[in-house]
Amino acid sequence: MKMNDIKFIKNFQKMTNDAWLKGWHERNGGNITYRLTKEEVNEVKDLIDESAEYKSIGVKVENLANEYFLVTGSGKFIRNVAIDLEANVGIVKIDEAGENYKIVWGLINGAKPTSELPSHLMSHCVKYDQTGGKHRIIMHSHATNIIALTFVLPLDGVVFTRELWEMATECPVVFPSGIGVVPWMVPGGAQIAEATSELMKKHDIVIWAHHGVFCSGEDLDLTFGLMDTVEKSAEILVKVLSMGGKRQTISSQNFRDLARDFKVSISEEYLK
Ligand code: 13P
Ligand code: ZN
Repeated sequence: MKMNDIKFIKNFQKMTNDAWLKGWHERNGGNITYRLTKEEVNEVKDLIDESAEYKSIGVKVENLANEYFLVTGSGKFIRNVAIDLEANVGIVKIDEAGENYKIVWGLINGAKPTSELPSHLMSHCVKYDQTGGKHRIIMHSHATNIIALTFVLPLDGVVFTRELWEMATECPVVFPSGIGVVPWMVPGGAQIAEATSELMKKHDIVIWAHHGVFCSGEDLDLTFGLMDTVEKSAEILVKVLSMGGKRQTISSQNFRDLARDFKVSISEEYLK
């Protein structure tokens, strides 16, 4: 069996290609990481090489010790993942202490994991505990309309949540825990990773002002769907604002009725 024939790899390639076609990943913009299941680690065990040296992650993720992640490469174009797997993605293993990683497959010719590995792994770390290991995907995209809104709306998660919920009736069902917003920060390090993971304790969507968005989910489809839903709402809001703003909208009571019938719990902080 070759790596390209394995199901989770094929799904990953489809997802990266779909995300490219959506326009969320110009050049090397954005990055995706996926935590392998025990069965998947077993499936690839004859294809991986554990002899590489460990390198520092830059943050500590103790609860991810010995886990394996499929990661996109730094400087690599998401549109090329479907074309040349081992040049653009790799599998990394986290060490016993949760402080270092090593490349066990792919990322050939000296390539490195995404520069956002600290933000990805710290978010995985939070979601691992919060969901009992159910969430496996962190996706960072440069979704156009979400970014555009960070120049216009106040950089406040409550405002973003409410505004984006109003743009599509099913939004509170798809992301009932709302959206967090990180103010502009230098990307790629421990500080933005800390700020992102702090907001991941409460939300599955975290926006980076003037940069992009992080989504967390159980599998590739759900995480892609979450990104797609929030970006589509943002697109509607951009259109509405461009047409002079809302003349009517969904009310707080409408949202309470929706939450009751769809059996989701939504915080009153978004319903003022
Ligand atoms: P990488 O190419 O290192 O993944 O970085 C892209 C990016 O979106 C940085 O935020
Ligand atoms: Zn980015």
